[in-house]
Amino acid sequence: MALLSALRRACICNALIFFTVCFAGDRFVSFELEYTYVTKSPLGVPQQVIAVNGQFPGPVLNVTTNDNVMVNVRNRLDEDLLVTWPGIHMWRSSWQDGVHGTNCPIQAKWNWTYQFQVKDQIGSFFYFPSLLMQRASGGFGSFIITNRPVISLPFGFPDGDIVMLIGDWYTKSHKALREDLDNGKELGMPDGVLINGKGPYRYNSSLVPDGIDHETINVEPGKTYRVRVHNVGVSTCLNFRIQNHNLLLAETEGTYTSQQNYTSLDIHVGQSYTFLVTMDQNASSDYYVVASPRLVNQSVWEKVTGVAVLHYSNSKGKASGPLPDPPNDFYDKSYVINQALSIRQNVSASGARPNPQGSFHYGSVNVTDIYILKSVPPVTIDRKRRATYNGISFVYPDTPMRLSDIYHVPGDYKLDFPNKPMNRPPKMDKSLISGTYKGFIEIVLQNNDTVVQSFHMDGYSFFVVGMGYGEWTENNRGSYNRWDAISRCTTQVFAGGWTAILVSLDNVGVWNLRTENLDRWYLGQETFMRIINPEDTSNKTENPVPDNVLYCGALSSMQKQQKTSSAVVHGSSDLMLSMMLLSAASIYILH
Ligand SMILES: *[C@@H]1O[C@H](CO)[C@@H](O)[C@H](O)[C@H]1NC(C)=O
Ligand SMILES: *[C@@H]1O[C@H](CO)[C@@H](O)[C@H](O)[C@H]1NC(C)=O
Ligand SMILES: *[C@@H]1O[C@H](CO)[C@@H](O)[C@H](O)[C@H]1NC(C)=O
Ligand SMILES: *[C@@H]1O[C@H](CO)[C@@H](O)[C@H](O)[C@H]1NC(C)=O
Ligand SMILES: *[C@@H]1O[C@H](CO)[C@@H](O)[C@H](O)[C@H]1NC(C)=O
Ligand SMILES: *[C@@H]1O[C@H](CO)[C@@H](O)[C@H](O)[C@H]1NC(C)=O
Ligand SMILES: *[C@@H]1O[C@H](CO)[C@@H](O)[C@H](O)[C@H]1NC(C)=O
Ligand SMILES: *[C@@H]1O[C@H](CO)[C@@H](O)[C@H](O)[C@H]1NC(C)=O
Ligand SMILES: *[C@@H]1O[C@H](CO)[C@@H](O)[C@H](O)[C@H]1NC(C)=O
Ligand SMILES: *[C@@H]1O[C@H](CO)[C@@H](O)[C@H](O)[C@H]1NC(C)=O
Repeated sequence: MALLSALRRACICNALIFFTVCFAGDRFVSFELEYTYVTKSPLGVPQQVIAVNGQFPGPVLNVTTNDNVMVNVRNRLDEDLLVTWPGIHMWRSSWQDGVHGTNCPIQAKWNWTYQFQVKDQIGSFFYFPSLLMQRASGGFGSFIITNRPVISLPFGFPDGDIVMLIGDWYTKSHKALREDLDNGKELGMPDGVLINGKGPYRYNSSLVPDGIDHETINVEPGKTYRVRVHNVGVSTCLNFRIQNHNLLLAETEGTYTSQQNYTSLDIHVGQSYTFLVTMDQNASSDYYVVASPRLVNQSVWEKVTGVAVLHYSNSKGKASGPLPDPPNDFYDKSYVINQALSIRQNVSASGARPNPQGSFHYGSVNVTDIYILKSVPPVTIDRKRRATYNGISFVYPDTPMRLSDIYHVPGDYKLDFPNKPMNRPPKMDKSLISGTYKGFIEIVLQNNDTVVQSFHMDGYSFFVVGMGYGEWTENNRGSYNRWDAISRCTTQVFAGGWTAILVSLDNVGVWNLRTENLDRWYLGQETFMRIINPEDTSNKTENPVPDNVLYCGALSSMQKQQKTSSAVVHGSSDLMLSMMLLSAASIYILH
């Protein structure tokens, strides 16, 4: 009872603070996430990984459309931490985005509480630590926004919900990988692919050493499961497939797709998908679940393959024999583009609201600004190996950019990011894009790098209207999908190719644009888009600075020292309990 009343009191305080920035009536949910190092051996070699509440990968955060979410992040690592929530729109509040450049880091031994509303969103996303290559050591978990019961799903209610985090993996720590990059090296081939933090099933004794723990997915025959797959890796595109089972694609990063069966799908770094999978096989044995590298030489990368096991409750034996084949498209470069463009939205399905997803006719809105963002292989600037967009390798200002606006910190950043590649030597700079509030922009991503890249934009979803090889020209606009292009937050840009996206700039703040390939990002291939409403004098289109904001850089004298609280270990059951108690308490307050 003491615990309960303490939690209630905590929630009442939180709720009162939070009230000023949120819509009353929506539920409050609260999570505690503690970041620590633990030792694991996912590939048979003991190594330090980043756990969340003692778990690797971190817990699933499962919230409902319009929930007010509070996440208290405790940093028990030995370096700065920020947690980011790609795809969550953080409506009007880049204060909560959790990336360097807009948020001061949570210092070692400190904690900080994110407060945001998942307004008008549904779907599958994941969170991860955004600083210092930490994602390469873990710290990630699935972030799910369940639809409100009043909005129907465009498919039958699934019999179960399965989360799979797939990603390439190094036995070196993120610190060692960072050092390699700082010394001008490439990261090289990863040591393996993990599925839910575990190494491959021993499908071949010469390729997979003994003693590695693999993931097993337990299912019932005849049932249909919602399988959410996230590529949380460093830089490798993975082909995902389940032996003998169709993957009915249903949703990606918050948009319901036009449902289609795939035998396998390429999932690029940072992307999330939902598949509906029906257990319609005879269970003569278990089945392989495979995540294998794509767009690389597969015979060289053979050992770098993630394999889990799909186990029917009536299974008659272990999975054996060769893995199901990946697509054989070496001589058909168009295969990957056709697959990407086949992913379209279901315009008649309801998303987070009852009106159809396709009711915003993006295809007939006039474009106000055009940006071409070109990436090339890493270059040398000031004797350092750096990665660029349009010849600029981004350097973080000392002070978060929106804070320096409000506190008039001079010279913190520049608004001179070129809107197309410039014919001049590459440089390091604090250059931002200045976006027009309520503008509708076209961004052409031109990838002259030798590897496929993922492009991500915080604070927004965008329409992926076109993709192709070679140099983009205005003539390519004729091929754009202006009717049912997918709306998402992370898209691939193939090596030697381009991807065109359309974005409606309705979210005020300073938002990160970056490659999700962790090595290129670390080397500076990113910038920010600053979108300000010049007419707003009363904080209507942007939330005010949160009460608990952290100060650093030129404003560090405003930051109070934090008392370092003692460690709290939360198991997942504690997490659920406190979440339930808090939401019960919130309902109690609100009615
Ligand atoms: C740190 O956590 C405590 C609860 O343990 C909370 O009261 C406090 O507000 C948190 N600090 C910040 C800055 O979020
Ligand atoms: C699109 O959504 C509608 C409405 O929920 C649903 O009935 C239909 O099956 C979906 N179509 C496809 C192709 O996914
Ligand atoms: C998320 O919550 C919804 C609704 O409570 C539930 O149906 C679903 O199974 C949950 N998913 C996961 C992965 O926990
Ligand atoms: C295991 O993999 C090796 C290397 O690809 C291959 O030569 C061998 O035939 C495989 N063994 C089995 C039993 O499939
Ligand atoms: C997808 O495949 C399943 C069999 O696995 C089949 O029952 C279903 O009709 C297919 N759906 C579509 C939209 O093709
Ligand atoms: C089960 O399915 C597999 C693959 O489709 C087939 O080869 C096998 O003969 C089937 N076994 C039985 C007992 O039906
Ligand atoms: C893949 O690598 C192997 C071994 O280095 C080489 O023999 C082969 O030609 C390569 N394949 C392709 C398609 O480049
Ligand atoms: C778009 O621009 C065209 C030509 O400038 C103009 O005729 C049209 O009305 C505009 N459409 C919208 C929706 O503003
Ligand atoms: C990069 O650009 C150069 C010059 O336009 C071109 O020759 C080359 O093929 C391009 N490479 C890739 C991978 O796009
Ligand atoms: C708007 O927010 C700023 C801080 O972000 C605050 O200083 C100002 O007083 C607020 N204005 C109004 C009208 O609430």
